[in-house]
Amino acid sequence: MSARTVGVVMNGVTGRMGYRQHLVRSVLAINAEGGVTLSDGGRALLKPVLVGRSELKLRELAKQHEIADWTTDLSAALADPSNPIYFDAQVTHARVASVTKAIEAGKHVYIEKPTAETVEDAVSLAKAAKSAGVKNGVVQDKLFLPGLLKLKRLVDGGFFGRILSVRGEFGYWVFEGDWQEAQRPSWNYRAEDGGGIILDMFPHWAYVLETLFGRIEAVTAKAVTHIPERVDETGGTYAATADDAAYGLFELAGGVIAQINSSWCVRVNRDELVEFQVDGTEGSAVAGLRNCRVQHRSATPKPVWNPDLPASEPFRRQWQEVPDNGEFHNGFKTQWELFVRHVLEDAPFPYDLAAGARGVRIAEAGLLSSAEGRRIEMSSIGTEEGEL
Ligand SMILES: NC(=O)c1ccc[n+]([C@@H]2O[C@H](COP(=O)([O-])OP(=O)(O)OC[C@H]3O[C@@H](n4cnc5c(N)ncnc54)[C@H](O)[C@@H]3O)[C@@H](O)[C@H]2O)c1
Repeated sequence: MSARTVGVVMNGVTGRMGYRQHLVRSVLAINAEGGVTLSDGGRALLKPVLVGRSELKLRELAKQHEIADWTTDLSAALADPSNPIYFDAQVTHARVASVTKAIEAGKHVYIEKPTAETVEDAVSLAKAAKSAGVKNGVVQDKLFLPGLLKLKRLVDGGFFGRILSVRGEFGYWVFEGDWQEAQRPSWNYRAEDGGGIILDMFPHWAYVLETLFGRIEAVTAKAVTHIPERVDETGGTYAATADDAAYGLFELAGGVIAQINSSWCVRVNRDELVEFQVDGTEGSAVAGLRNCRVQHRSATPKPVWNPDLPASEPFRRQWQEVPDNGEFHNGFKTQWELFVRHVLEDAPFPYDLAAGARGVRIAEAGLLSSAEGRRIEMSSIGTEEGEL
Protein backbone atom coordinates (compact mmCIF):
# COMPACT_ATOMS: atom_id res chain seq x y z
CA MET A 1 0.00 0.00 0.00
CA SER A 2 1.48 3.36 -0.98
CA ALA A 3 1.96 6.05 1.68
CA ARG A 4 -0.14 9.19 1.64
CA THR A 5 1.39 12.58 2.39
CA VAL A 6 -0.05 15.07 4.85
CA GLY A 7 1.14 18.67 4.91
CA VAL A 8 1.83 20.09 8.37
CA VAL A 9 2.36 23.81 8.81
CA MET A 10 4.90 24.07 11.63
CA ASN A 11 5.21 27.45 13.33
CA GLY A 12 7.97 28.14 15.86
CA VAL A 13 10.40 25.50 14.57
CA THR A 14 13.40 27.74 15.11
CA GLY A 15 12.72 27.52 18.86
CA ARG A 16 13.98 24.88 21.28
CA MET A 17 10.83 22.79 21.48
CA GLY A 18 9.67 23.31 17.92
CA TYR A 19 13.03 22.28 16.53
CA ARG A 20 14.31 19.50 18.78
CA GLN A 21 11.23 17.72 19.99
CA HIS A 22 8.65 18.40 17.30
CA LEU A 23 10.53 18.76 14.02
CA VAL A 24 13.57 16.53 14.52
CA ARG A 25 12.48 13.94 17.08
CA SER A 26 8.84 13.72 15.98
CA VAL A 27 7.95 14.70 12.42
CA LEU A 28 11.30 13.88 10.76
CA ALA A 29 11.75 10.79 12.93
CA ILE A 30 8.29 9.54 11.93
CA ASN A 31 9.12 9.99 8.25
CA ALA A 32 12.47 8.24 8.71
CA GLU A 33 10.54 5.26 10.05
CA GLY A 34 8.25 5.22 7.00
CA GLY A 35 5.41 7.36 8.35
CA VAL A 36 2.53 6.93 10.77
CA THR A 37 0.97 3.47 10.60
CA LEU A 38 -2.78 3.65 10.07
CA SER A 39 -5.34 1.07 11.15
CA ASP A 40 -5.75 -0.32 7.61
CA GLY A 41 -1.99 -0.91 7.42
CA GLY A 42 -1.49 2.19 5.27
CA ARG A 43 1.12 4.81 6.03
CA ALA A 44 1.03 8.59 6.31
CA LEU A 45 4.17 10.60 5.68
CA LEU A 46 4.31 14.13 7.03
CA LYS A 47 5.33 17.04 4.82
CA PRO A 48 6.56 19.82 7.12
CA VAL A 49 6.08 23.40 5.97
CA LEU A 50 8.31 25.53 8.16
CA VAL A 51 6.90 28.89 9.21
CA GLY A 52 8.67 31.58 11.19
CA ARG A 53 9.81 35.17 11.33
CA SER A 54 13.39 34.85 10.12
CA GLU A 55 13.94 33.99 6.46
CA LEU A 56 17.59 33.31 7.18
CA LYS A 57 16.95 30.83 9.98
CA LEU A 58 14.21 29.05 8.06
CA ARG A 59 16.30 28.72 4.93
CA GLU A 60 19.20 27.26 6.92
CA LEU A 61 16.96 24.86 8.78
CA ALA A 62 15.26 23.73 5.58
CA LYS A 63 18.62 23.19 3.91
CA GLN A 64 20.06 21.29 6.84
CA HIS A 65 17.14 18.86 6.89
CA GLU A 66 16.35 18.86 3.15
CA ILE A 67 12.89 20.30 3.69
CA ALA A 68 11.39 21.78 0.53
CA ASP A 69 8.77 24.09 1.99
CA TRP A 70 9.31 27.08 4.23
CA THR A 71 7.85 30.56 4.41
CA THR A 72 7.52 33.65 6.60
CA ASP A 73 3.94 34.03 5.33
CA LEU A 74 1.65 32.10 7.66
CA SER A 75 -1.49 33.00 5.70
CA ALA A 76 -0.03 31.60 2.50
CA ALA A 77 0.90 28.31 4.20
CA LEU A 78 -2.60 28.08 5.68
CA ALA A 79 -4.22 28.81 2.32
CA ASP A 80 -2.70 25.67 0.80
CA PRO A 81 -5.27 22.85 0.94
CA SER A 82 -2.51 20.22 0.91
CA ASN A 83 -1.66 21.28 4.49
CA PRO A 84 -4.56 20.11 6.67
CA ILE A 85 -2.67 20.40 9.98
CA TYR A 86 -1.32 23.47 11.78
CA PHE A 87 1.21 23.03 14.59
CA ASP A 88 2.30 25.80 16.97
CA ALA A 89 5.35 25.89 19.26
CA GLN A 90 5.87 29.64 19.21
CA VAL A 91 6.46 31.68 22.33
CA THR A 92 3.29 31.46 24.37
CA HIS A 93 2.11 35.02 23.80
CA ALA A 94 2.16 34.58 20.02
CA ARG A 95 0.04 31.42 20.11
CA VAL A 96 -3.59 32.56 20.24
CA ALA A 97 -3.47 34.86 17.20
CA SER A 98 -1.82 32.26 14.95
CA VAL A 99 -3.94 29.33 16.11
CA THR A 100 -7.09 31.40 15.64
CA LYS A 101 -5.99 32.11 12.09
CA ALA A 102 -5.40 28.42 11.47
CA ILE A 103 -8.81 27.47 12.86
CA GLU A 104 -10.43 30.11 10.66
CA ALA A 105 -8.63 28.57 7.68
CA GLY A 106 -10.24 25.22 8.59
CA LYS A 107 -7.02 23.55 9.76
CA HIS A 108 -6.78 20.87 12.40
CA VAL A 109 -4.62 22.34 15.14
CA TYR A 110 -2.04 20.73 17.40
CA ILE A 111 -0.28 23.10 19.79
CA GLU A 112 2.17 23.41 22.64
CA LYS A 113 1.11 24.18 26.18
CA PRO A 114 0.09 26.53 27.66
CA THR A 115 -2.53 26.96 24.93
CA ALA A 116 -2.91 30.64 25.92
CA GLU A 117 -1.81 33.08 28.62
CA THR A 118 -5.28 33.43 30.13
CA VAL A 119 -8.17 31.07 30.75
CA GLU A 120 -10.43 33.35 28.79
CA ASP A 121 -8.25 33.01 25.68
CA ALA A 122 -7.69 29.28 26.21
CA VAL A 123 -11.43 28.66 26.48
CA SER A 124 -12.16 30.84 23.42
CA LEU A 125 -9.62 28.87 21.42
CA ALA A 126 -11.17 25.56 22.47
CA LYS A 127 -14.65 26.85 21.62
CA ALA A 128 -13.50 28.20 18.25
CA ALA A 129 -11.99 24.83 17.32
CA LYS A 130 -15.11 23.02 18.42
CA SER A 131 -17.50 25.22 16.50
CA ALA A 132 -15.29 25.10 13.39
CA GLY A 133 -15.40 21.31 13.64
CA VAL A 134 -11.62 20.95 13.41
CA LYS A 135 -9.65 18.31 15.25
CA ASN A 136 -7.58 19.88 17.98
CA GLY A 137 -4.91 18.88 20.44
CA VAL A 138 -2.46 20.08 23.04
CA VAL A 139 0.96 18.63 23.82
CA GLN A 140 0.87 16.56 27.03
CA ASP A 141 4.27 14.93 26.63
CA LYS A 142 4.91 14.06 30.28
CA LEU A 143 2.17 11.42 30.14
CA PHE A 144 4.33 9.46 27.73
CA LEU A 145 7.52 9.50 29.77
CA PRO A 146 8.70 5.99 30.63
CA GLY A 147 8.83 6.81 34.37
CA LEU A 148 5.27 8.09 34.39
CA LEU A 149 4.01 5.23 32.20
CA LYS A 150 5.41 2.84 34.79
CA LEU A 151 3.77 4.87 37.55
CA LYS A 152 0.45 4.71 35.68
CA ARG A 153 0.89 0.95 35.38
CA LEU A 154 1.28 0.77 39.17
CA VAL A 155 -1.82 2.89 39.74
CA ASP A 156 -3.87 0.82 37.27
CA GLY A 157 -2.63 -2.40 38.86
CA GLY A 158 -3.74 -1.30 42.32
CA PHE A 159 -0.21 -1.38 43.72
CA PHE A 160 -0.70 1.57 46.09
CA GLY A 161 -3.88 0.53 47.89
CA ARG A 162 -5.40 3.87 48.90
CA ILE A 163 -3.23 6.68 47.57
CA LEU A 164 -2.52 9.24 50.26
CA SER A 165 -0.12 11.78 48.83
CA VAL A 166 2.07 12.78 45.92
CA ARG A 167 5.23 14.86 46.27
CA GLY A 168 6.83 16.23 43.15
CA GLU A 169 10.18 17.90 42.89
CA PHE A 170 10.97 19.56 39.58
CA GLY A 171 13.71 21.88 38.50
CA TYR A 172 17.36 22.66 38.13
CA TRP A 173 19.64 25.66 38.21
CA VAL A 174 19.11 27.96 35.23
CA PHE A 175 22.14 30.16 34.94
CA GLU A 176 21.55 33.87 35.31
CA GLY A 177 23.40 34.57 32.07
CA ASP A 178 26.17 36.73 33.49
CA TRP A 179 29.14 34.41 33.88
CA GLN A 180 27.59 31.37 32.17
CA GLU A 181 24.98 31.58 29.41
CA ALA A 182 21.42 30.82 30.51
CA GLN A 183 20.18 27.48 29.16
CA ARG A 184 16.58 28.70 28.76
CA PRO A 185 15.21 31.60 26.69
CA SER A 186 15.04 34.98 28.47
CA TRP A 187 11.30 35.47 27.72
CA ASN A 188 10.67 32.67 30.26
CA TYR A 189 11.68 35.14 32.99
CA ARG A 190 9.59 38.11 31.81
CA ALA A 191 5.92 38.16 32.75
CA GLU A 192 5.16 40.68 30.00
CA ASP A 193 6.43 38.15 27.40
CA GLY A 194 4.38 35.21 28.66
CA GLY A 195 7.06 33.88 31.03
CA GLY A 196 6.71 32.47 34.53
CA ILE A 197 7.15 28.98 35.94
CA ILE A 198 3.51 28.66 37.03
CA LEU A 199 2.18 29.30 33.52
CA ASP A 200 4.89 27.03 32.16
CA MET A 201 4.70 24.08 34.57
CA PHE A 202 1.24 24.02 36.21
CA PRO A 203 -0.41 23.00 32.91
CA HIS A 204 1.90 19.94 32.99
CA TRP A 205 1.13 19.17 36.62
CA ALA A 206 -2.58 19.57 35.89
CA TYR A 207 -2.73 16.76 33.33
CA VAL A 208 -0.22 14.57 35.17
CA LEU A 209 -2.15 14.74 38.46
CA GLU A 210 -5.59 14.49 36.88
CA THR A 211 -4.69 11.60 34.56
CA LEU A 212 -2.94 9.57 37.24
CA PHE A 213 -4.63 10.42 40.52
CA GLY A 214 -7.83 12.45 40.27
CA ARG A 215 -9.35 15.80 39.53
CA ILE A 216 -7.80 18.85 41.17
CA GLU A 217 -10.37 20.41 43.50
CA ALA A 218 -8.30 23.16 45.10
CA VAL A 219 -4.95 24.89 44.56
CA THR A 220 -2.74 26.77 46.99
CA ALA A 221 0.49 28.18 45.65
CA LYS A 222 3.28 30.57 46.36
CA ALA A 223 5.04 32.01 43.32
CA VAL A 224 8.37 33.69 43.87
CA THR A 225 10.97 35.52 41.80
CA HIS A 226 14.14 34.46 43.56
CA ILE A 227 16.52 35.99 41.02
CA PRO A 228 15.35 39.51 40.15
CA GLU A 229 17.84 40.27 37.42
CA ARG A 230 19.17 38.13 34.58
CA VAL A 231 21.20 38.54 31.39
CA ASP A 232 19.57 37.84 28.02
CA GLU A 233 20.72 36.30 24.73
CA THR A 234 22.34 39.56 23.60
CA GLY A 235 24.26 40.09 26.84
CA GLY A 236 21.86 42.76 28.11
CA THR A 237 20.71 42.82 31.72
CA TYR A 238 16.95 42.68 32.22
CA ALA A 239 14.50 42.69 35.12
CA ALA A 240 13.15 39.18 35.73
CA THR A 241 9.49 40.06 36.24
CA ALA A 242 8.12 36.53 36.18
CA ASP A 243 8.06 33.86 38.86
CA ASP A 244 11.08 31.53 38.71
CA ALA A 245 9.88 29.17 41.45
CA ALA A 246 6.47 27.96 42.57
CA TYR A 247 5.55 25.95 45.63
CA GLY A 248 2.18 24.33 45.01
CA LEU A 249 -0.36 22.29 46.95
CA PHE A 250 -3.09 20.52 44.99
CA GLU A 251 -6.05 18.88 46.71
CA LEU A 252 -7.40 16.07 44.57
CA ALA A 253 -10.75 14.32 44.49
CA GLY A 254 -10.78 11.42 46.93
CA GLY A 255 -8.56 13.22 49.42
CA VAL A 256 -5.17 12.74 47.76
CA ILE A 257 -2.84 15.63 48.60
CA ALA A 258 -0.24 16.56 46.00
CA GLN A 259 2.62 18.97 46.63
CA ILE A 260 4.86 20.01 43.77
CA ASN A 261 7.87 22.30 43.92
CA SER A 262 8.88 23.79 40.57
CA SER A 263 12.02 25.87 40.44
CA TRP A 264 14.70 27.23 38.14
CA CYS A 265 16.69 28.12 41.23
CA VAL A 266 17.54 24.72 42.72
CA ARG A 267 20.57 22.51 42.36
CA VAL A 268 19.73 18.91 41.61
CA ASN A 269 20.24 16.35 44.36
CA ARG A 270 17.92 13.77 42.83
CA ASP A 271 18.33 11.00 40.29
CA GLU A 272 16.26 12.84 37.66
CA LEU A 273 15.18 16.40 36.83
CA VAL A 274 11.67 15.61 37.96
CA GLU A 275 10.63 13.04 40.53
CA PHE A 276 7.27 12.21 42.04
CA GLN A 277 6.95 10.20 45.24
CA VAL A 278 3.57 8.55 45.67
CA ASP A 279 2.66 7.08 49.05
CA GLY A 280 -0.21 4.66 49.46
CA THR A 281 -1.41 2.32 52.16
CA GLU A 282 -0.01 -0.75 50.37
CA GLY A 283 3.14 0.70 48.88
CA SER A 284 5.07 3.72 47.65
CA ALA A 285 6.81 4.64 44.42
CA VAL A 286 9.27 7.25 43.21
CA ALA A 287 8.95 7.95 39.50
CA GLY A 288 11.21 10.12 37.39
CA LEU A 289 11.48 10.74 33.67
CA ARG A 290 12.71 7.25 32.89
CA ASN A 291 12.83 5.20 36.05
CA CYS A 292 10.43 4.18 38.73
CA ARG A 293 11.19 2.37 41.95
CA VAL A 294 8.86 0.94 44.54
CA GLN A 295 8.69 -0.15 48.14
CA HIS A 296 5.92 -2.49 49.15
CA ARG A 297 4.26 -2.44 52.57
CA SER A 298 5.78 -5.85 53.27
CA ALA A 299 9.30 -4.50 52.70
CA THR A 300 8.92 -1.24 54.58
CA PRO A 301 11.59 -0.64 57.24
CA LYS A 302 10.68 0.53 60.74
CA PRO A 303 12.99 3.45 61.51
CA VAL A 304 13.13 4.82 65.03
CA TRP A 305 14.06 8.49 65.46
CA ASN A 306 17.38 8.80 67.22
CA PRO A 307 19.57 11.73 66.16
CA ASP A 308 22.39 10.47 68.37
CA LEU A 309 23.07 7.52 66.06
CA PRO A 310 23.90 7.30 62.34
CA ALA A 311 21.00 6.29 60.03
CA SER A 312 20.04 2.74 60.89
CA GLU A 313 19.04 1.68 57.39
CA PRO A 314 20.33 2.23 53.83
CA PHE A 315 16.96 3.79 52.94
CA ARG A 316 17.63 4.50 49.27
CA ARG A 317 18.89 0.98 48.61
CA GLN A 318 15.70 -0.58 49.98
CA TRP A 319 13.68 0.29 46.87
CA GLN A 320 13.09 -1.99 43.92
CA GLU A 321 13.32 -0.93 40.27
CA VAL A 322 10.15 -1.35 38.20
CA PRO A 323 11.09 -3.16 34.97
CA ASP A 324 10.36 -1.62 31.55
CA ASN A 325 8.35 -4.63 30.34
CA GLY A 326 8.13 -2.99 26.94
CA GLU A 327 9.68 -0.45 24.65
CA PHE A 328 9.26 3.27 25.25
CA HIS A 329 9.44 5.83 22.47
CA ASN A 330 9.91 9.59 22.50
CA GLY A 331 6.71 10.93 24.09
CA PHE A 332 6.40 13.86 21.70
CA LYS A 333 6.62 11.50 18.73
CA THR A 334 4.08 9.10 20.21
CA GLN A 335 1.62 11.96 20.70
CA TRP A 336 2.21 13.21 17.15
CA GLU A 337 1.36 9.75 15.81
CA LEU A 338 -1.83 9.72 17.87
CA PHE A 339 -2.82 13.16 16.61
CA VAL A 340 -2.21 12.25 12.96
CA ARG A 341 -4.37 9.14 13.41
CA HIS A 342 -7.00 11.30 15.09
CA VAL A 343 -7.06 13.59 12.05
CA LEU A 344 -6.93 10.90 9.39
CA GLU A 345 -9.07 8.15 10.85
CA ASP A 346 -10.79 9.71 13.86
CA ALA A 347 -8.77 7.65 16.34
CA PRO A 348 -9.32 8.75 19.95
CA PHE A 349 -7.32 11.73 21.19
CA PRO A 350 -8.37 12.96 24.64
CA TYR A 351 -5.73 15.71 24.80
CA ASP A 352 -7.86 18.40 23.16
CA LEU A 353 -7.94 22.17 23.57
CA ALA A 354 -10.52 21.86 26.35
CA ALA A 355 -7.90 19.83 28.23
CA GLY A 356 -5.39 22.55 27.34
CA ALA A 357 -7.72 25.19 28.81
CA ARG A 358 -8.00 23.11 31.97
CA GLY A 359 -4.20 23.36 32.34
CA VAL A 360 -4.30 27.13 31.93
CA ARG A 361 -7.12 27.29 34.50
CA ILE A 362 -5.00 25.42 37.06
CA ALA A 363 -2.12 27.83 36.34
CA GLU A 364 -4.43 30.79 36.77
CA ALA A 365 -5.65 29.35 40.08
CA GLY A 366 -2.02 29.05 41.21
CA LEU A 367 -1.25 32.66 40.28
CA LEU A 368 -4.42 33.90 41.97
CA SER A 369 -3.68 31.88 45.10
CA SER A 370 -0.20 33.34 45.29
CA ALA A 371 -1.28 36.90 44.60
CA GLU A 372 -4.06 36.82 47.18
CA GLY A 373 -2.44 34.48 49.69
CA ARG A 374 -5.38 32.09 49.80
CA ARG A 375 -6.59 28.64 48.78
CA ILE A 376 -8.51 28.57 45.50
CA GLU A 377 -11.31 26.06 44.99
CA MET A 378 -11.46 25.17 41.33
CA SER A 379 -15.25 25.26 41.34
CA SER A 380 -15.07 28.94 42.32
CA ILE A 381 -13.27 30.15 39.22
CA GLY A 382 -15.00 30.28 35.85
CA THR A 383 -16.63 27.75 33.60
CA GLU A 384 -15.68 24.11 33.79
CA GLU A 385 -14.10 22.80 30.58
CA GLY A 386 -16.70 20.03 30.46
CA GLU A 387 -19.17 22.63 29.25
CA LEU A 388 -17.13 23.32 26.15
N1 LIG B 1 5.98 20.51 26.29
C1 LIG B 1 7.05 20.92 26.93
O1 LIG B 1 7.65 20.19 27.70
C2 LIG B 1 7.56 22.31 26.73
C3 LIG B 1 8.86 22.64 27.18
C4 LIG B 1 9.32 23.94 26.97
C5 LIG B 1 8.52 24.87 26.33
N2 LIG B 1 7.26 24.53 25.93
C6 LIG B 1 6.39 25.53 25.27
O2 LIG B 1 6.82 25.67 23.93
C7 LIG B 1 6.71 27.02 23.53
C8 LIG B 1 8.07 27.49 22.97
O3 LIG B 1 9.04 27.41 24.00
P1 LIG B 1 10.61 27.34 23.65
O4 LIG B 1 11.28 27.05 24.92
O5 LIG B 1 10.82 26.45 22.47
O6 LIG B 1 10.89 28.87 23.26
P2 LIG B 1 11.97 29.46 22.23
O7 LIG B 1 12.18 30.85 22.66
O8 LIG B 1 13.15 28.56 22.13
O9 LIG B 1 11.22 29.43 20.82
C9 LIG B 1 10.17 30.31 20.53
C10 LIG B 1 9.77 30.24 19.08
O10 LIG B 1 8.71 31.19 18.87
C11 LIG B 1 9.06 32.07 17.80
N3 LIG B 1 8.42 33.38 17.99
C12 LIG B 1 7.28 33.76 17.38
N4 LIG B 1 6.92 34.99 17.75
C13 LIG B 1 7.84 35.42 18.63
C14 LIG B 1 8.02 36.63 19.35
N5 LIG B 1 7.15 37.63 19.24
N6 LIG B 1 9.11 36.73 20.15
C15 LIG B 1 9.98 35.71 20.28
N7 LIG B 1 9.85 34.51 19.61
C16 LIG B 1 8.80 34.40 18.79
C17 LIG B 1 10.58 32.09 17.80
O11 LIG B 1 11.07 32.49 16.53
C18 LIG B 1 10.89 30.62 18.11
O12 LIG B 1 10.77 29.84 16.94
C19 LIG B 1 6.24 27.80 24.76
O13 LIG B 1 4.86 28.06 24.66
C20 LIG B 1 6.51 26.87 25.91
O14 LIG B 1 5.56 27.01 26.95
C21 LIG B 1 6.79 23.28 26.11
